[in-house]
Amino acid sequence: MAVDLERSDGVATVTLNRPGALNAFDTPQLRALLDTFRALRADRAVRCVILTGTGKAFAAGADIKEMADKQMPEALAFARLGHQVTAAIEGLPQPVIAAVNGYAFGGGCELALACDIRLAADTAQFAQPEVTLGVPPGWGGTQRLPRLVGHGLAAEIIFTARRVTADEALRIGLVNGIYPPDRLLSEATDLARRIAANSPRALAAAKRAMALALAGDPASGLAAEATLFAESFGTPDQEEGMRAFLEKRPAAFSGE
Ligand code: CAA
Repeated sequence: MAVDLERSDGVATVTLNRPGALNAFDTPQLRALLDTFRALRADRAVRCVILTGTGKAFAAGADIKEMADKQMPEALAFARLGHQVTAAIEGLPQPVIAAVNGYAFGGGCELALACDIRLAADTAQFAQPEVTLGVPPGWGGTQRLPRLVGHGLAAEIIFTARRVTADEALRIGLVNGIYPPDRLLSEATDLARRIAANSPRALAAAKRAMALALAGDPASGLAAEATLFAESFGTPDQEEGMRAFLEKRPAAFSGE
């Protein structure tokens, strides 16, 4: 199996496990990942998800061996399959943390960009090397990298295909934190557990509203935010969360 899944204390850890190809994504790997995220969507016991890789790479991108002989229709299908995976990550009601343990190149960087939060090993490197292969980024890098680091910097990173070190990634806001490699997963798990203690319903509503803001239509985003905020009221999670605060005790959320 090229994708491993572990669940513990409300946190699911999805591990890309194709180290012989530096976790590059061929079609079976993408389908396995899509199935995994779709299954997590329905798993109410999972309140936060971590995506990481095994070995020295987070993921070295789309599988170049598979892509090399593709023609336009197959390439379009491959781009769309990648988009389905990033949409599955963004559309997941649970927050997703990328724990970038090594190379995050091409489609690997693009999958990390689709996550809500990125933490990285201090040895990790990011790049969009597609233009060196004669193609533009195909799984959302042209859309999500500019949103995260600004147009000018994203243009330089994509147009030069240069590598971004973990230090630089932290400085430009591409990642939220960097850690020694042996601490990365425990730091990501700590963060995931802190998130998982909060209302799943409210987390999902916040994630949906934030996605709309990033979609480039703040007015619709604000309208949706108001509706989602209002719809949270009268739910068991809202009642429990506010009652627990007033009673000075930790909340026990059911996700209803
Ligand atoms: N696809 C297929 N196989 C890959 C791969 C990829 N993206 N990246 C690495 N591999 C394979 C190598 O071919 C090699 O396999 P063999 O042992 O069978 O030859 C194995 O993984 C180990 O790789 P290296 O020997 O190259 O390892 P390294 O440590 O010397 O270098 C690296 C690591 C710098 C990441 C280098 O592997 C590399 O540059 N890989 C390609 C990165 C890349 O260009 N990614 C973008 C792909 S295009 C894309 O992702 C399009 C999109 O937007 C969807």
